[in-house]
Amino acid sequence: MASLLGRVAVVTGAARGLGKAIAIGLARAGCDVALCSRSPRDLETVAERILRDSGRRVYWQGVNVASAAEVAKFSDAACTALGPVSILINNAAGWVDADYLEASPEDIETTIDVTLKGPIWMARSFWRQLKETAPSHIVNITSLGARPSRSNASPAYVAAKFGASGLTESLRRYAVRDNIKVTEILPGSIASKFDIDDGSEAVSRSYGNGRVPVSDYVEAVLFALTRSPMSVVEDISIASVQDYKTDYSTY
Ligand SMILES: NC(=O)c1ccc[n+]([C@@H]2O[C@H](COP(=O)([O-])OP(=O)(O)OC[C@H]3O[C@@H](n4cnc5c(N)ncnc54)[C@H](OP(=O)(O)O)[C@@H]3O)[C@@H](O)[C@H]2O)c1
Repeated sequence: MASLLGRVAVVTGAARGLGKAIAIGLARAGCDVALCSRSPRDLETVAERILRDSGRRVYWQGVNVASAAEVAKFSDAACTALGPVSILINNAAGWVDADYLEASPEDIETTIDVTLKGPIWMARSFWRQLKETAPSHIVNITSLGARPSRSNASPAYVAAKFGASGLTESLRRYAVRDNIKVTEILPGSIASKFDIDDGSEAVSRSYGNGRVPVSDYVEAVLFALTRSPMSVVEDISIASVQDYKTDYSTY
């Protein structure tokens, strides 16, 4: 198993939910972590937790990943703070709550900008660092909603995730020339309001609807990152057992 000790990882959407859990998990595995979201105050709280929890170095910055210019500044600042990044986790995404026909054009644009363009700007801006530190790794968190036949989510969200999934597959071929691995993680429903340390029993007791604990997804990310140099984990899908009992109606 490859070691993550001392590697520098960047996580988007690390203010809460799965992104926060992945950042904590990577730090526990020995990574220094650069965090972004649009809420610096929330990131500061996550950073304090990581410092207490694992003692690893943390850098955080308020960044809108839909903005190529903001992402470019973030990549320079993160490198200055922690050294070149060798793991990029694209986790931030938008979501359309309203019905497809009733959602505002702005909400649909934001969802596509964050969910699809965000990972494009991030990969482009961090590429030089990833190449310098190779073998390195990009992990894109998409969704089972990226498989349209398995989701009743808003078609705009599904289209954005389908695009992010296609980007991931295409990047995997492109990135091999620079010794960068690319993995897609496809979650079903995540108990993302729960902490990484909340076990599955606590989650199901409190949540009651069969959502999957964040720790299962964090372990999937760590698994992909720690394989031998000879293998690339292409994708990992994790669905909720409950979703099989009903249907893929949430994501
Ligand atoms: N929850 C589920 O059941 C589920 C199921 C399938 C797939 N997923 C996917 O899993 C990932 C994590 O989901 P989650 O439930 O943990 O999400 P979440 O709780 O809504 O958190 C989203 C994170 O992204 C950040 N973010 C949103 N827009 C951003 C932007 N423009 N720039 C930078 N950061 C931004 C948010 O922080 P700020 O608001 O501070 O920016 C937050 O930290 C997403 O890709 C989601 O699509 C989730």
